Amino acid sequence: MALQIARLVLARCANQQVASSSALVNLEYAMLSRSVSTWGFRNLSSSKPSFCVAASSASPPPPPPNNKAVNTLRFILLGSVAVGGVFAYALFNSEMPQPAALATGQTTVKKDYGAVKKAIEDILDVEGYDDGSYGPLLVRLAWHASGTFDKADGTGGSNGATMRFEPECSWGSNAGLDKARSILEPIKAKFPWISYADLWTLSGVVAVEGMGGPTIPWRPGRVDKPSGVHCPAGGRLPDASKGAQHIREVFSRMGFNDQEMVALSGAHTLGRCHTDRSGYVNPWTNAPTTFSNLYFQDLLNKKWTPKKWDGPLQYEDNTKTLMMLPTDMELIKDKKFRKYVELYAKNEEQFFSDFASAFSRLLELGVQFPAATVAV
Ligand code: HEM
Repeated sequence: MALQIARLVLARCANQQVASSSALVNLEYAMLSRSVSTWGFRNLSSSKPSFCVAASSASPPPPPPNNKAVNTLRFILLGSVAVGGVFAYALFNSEMPQPAALATGQTTVKKDYGAVKKAIEDILDVEGYDDGSYGPLLVRLAWHASGTFDKADGTGGSNGATMRFEPECSWGSNAGLDKARSILEPIKAKFPWISYADLWTLSGVVAVEGMGGPTIPWRPGRVDKPSGVHCPAGGRLPDASKGAQHIREVFSRMGFNDQEMVALSGAHTLGRCHTDRSGYVNPWTNAPTTFSNLYFQDLLNKKWTPKKWDGPLQYEDNTKTLMMLPTDMELIKDKKFRKYVELYAKNEEQFFSDFASAFSRLLELGVQFPAATVAV
């Protein structure tokens, strides 16, 4: 429709000598390719989903042509496009801002977190990927997005979703999480009002619940940061080759105590290691898509010996199909940790309850929630 209007207007401007076919082509091109951002719209040329964005920005667009007639026409055309867009939105979207809301600048778009949760549930089961579920990968995304928090200065944490940007997206500890971020893109496109930070943490929550785990209290309110200059310092996520002291340093920096460290580590009942991501291999348990206390039972009841291979030190059971990381083994070597491993191996209910509170807190570290934000 906009192009039809353009042709009409150009025809009437024949006496201004702007309606030559080449002017028309130029005008159409200008409309479609470069002047959108000048009028306050998003630059369409950069709208492709970006899973890892460099910190530096693209070069600025060239200045608009110094042609009054073309500028006037562009104004008319873009105005038509905007009005047309609003009508199309009204026709096809029942959550259209109402006139009163438009007048006051407010929006009534209903933030239906239930619908987002449902959309996440729907993508969890995938035949052919690992053990048949993206659930464990999404739990790891939520944890790595949040586990950078430093309580000393309030930096890091899930707020900001800075893992979209360099350098954080390329940290070795985040290898493989590009996959997690990309599978959530269609959901972000369907519910553009949710921040990435809320979406990533909510997906971890939905994944735990969807795999049979406890209900995790979760509330929205995280705000995305615009660029990689907000990435936290590197080296904050745990190194699996290290000992108990390192585990305590990393988790107490976030504000967790020994019991919470053990409870959170129970997430390794899910998923597996990948040689092309961390260098380690195999799952921790025989039920890697079911949330349970099996990890603690296996830690205590199976015999773990160093795996003989060219890779990094890891432990294997007598079937050689299951694994433990050096940091997992610290949980039974260190007496203070071990007593909680024993507790959770015996009492799954206690594990579920302690995991739910610690995981919920992990996902909220450093987030300033708007007043009166409630769990959904
Ligand atoms: C000392 C602490 C921790 C260390 C050293 C550690 C290390 C690792 C490593 C090396 C992997 C394998 C990654 C891969 O190759 O794909 C992994 C996977 C995983 N981690 Fe941790 N982790 C720790 C704590 C946690 C915590 C606190 C959670 C969640 C609350 C968690 C959740 C997971 C999950 C669900 C996976 C499986 C991912 C998948 O299957 O793709 N981890 N972790």
